[in-house]
Amino acid sequence: MVSHRTITVVTTYLEIPARAAFRPSFTADPEIAVLESRVPFPAFYRFLYQAVGANYHWTLRLGWTDDQLATYLAQPGVTLLVLYVCGTPAGYVELNAHSDEPGVEIAYFGLVPMFHGRGLGKHLLSVGVQRAYDDGAERIWVHTCTLDGPYALANYQARGFVPYKTTTEPLILPE
Ligand SMILES: CC(C)(COP(=O)(O)OP(=O)(O)OC[C@H]1O[C@@H](n2cnc3c(N)ncnc32)[C@H](O)[C@@H]1OP(=O)(O)O)[C@@H](O)C(=O)NCCC(=O)NCCS
Repeated sequence: MVSHRTITVVTTYLEIPARAAFRPSFTADPEIAVLESRVPFPAFYRFLYQAVGANYHWTLRLGWTDDQLATYLAQPGVTLLVLYVCGTPAGYVELNAHSDEPGVEIAYFGLVPMFHGRGLGKHLLSVGVQRAYDDGAERIWVHTCTLDGPYALANYQARGFVPYKTTTEPLILPE
C-alpha cells in the first residue's frame, strides 16, 4: 500500500506594477539563445515540462492528451520561449494571455537542473517579460509556490515583481 503525507503549500502571486519597475538582466554570452517555439508539438512540450519540473512536482500537464496540449499551445496568446545553451534546450518560459486573471501570465518558467545557478534564469525571465511587454501586455503576473526551486521567488523579485496575494493549501503527496 502506498502511504501518503500531507504538506502545506504556500503560493505567492506576484506582478510587475509598471513597465518602469522591470529590472531586466541579460547575458551577452553568444552561446546562449532564446528562440520562440512556433510549432511546439506535444512530445517536445512534455520533454521541456518534465526536464525542468520533474524535481518540483510539475505533474498537471502530464495528464493532458496530445490533442489537449496541441489545442492549448496553438492559441495565439500562448507563447513558448525556449532557452538554448550551446545548441541544447536548457529551459523555457511559457506566456499565457488567456489565463484566469487580467494580463499575461508567466504560466511556466524554469531551467533544466544542470543549468541552475549560472545567471541563466534571470536572462530567460528577462527575455520572457520583455516579450510580453513587446506584445502589448499591460500587466504581467506569475505565481510560485513553496514546491518550486529555492530561488524562484527571489528571481522574480529581483526583476521587479511584487507580491500581491498569498494562499495556503494542504497537499497530499505519496511518501
Ligand atoms: C528559479 C530558477 C529559474 C532560477 O534560475 P537560476 O539560473 O538558477 O538563477 P540565476 O543564477 O539567474 O539567478 C537569478 C536570481 O535568483 C536568485 N538567486 C539565484 N541563486 C541564488 C543564490 N544562490 N542565493 C540567493 N539568491 C539566488 C537571485 O535573486 C538572482 O538574481 P540576482 O543575481 O539579480 O540577485 C531556477 O532555479 C529553476 O529553474 N528552478 C526550478 C524551476 C522553478 O522553480 N521555476 C519557477 C517556478 S514559478
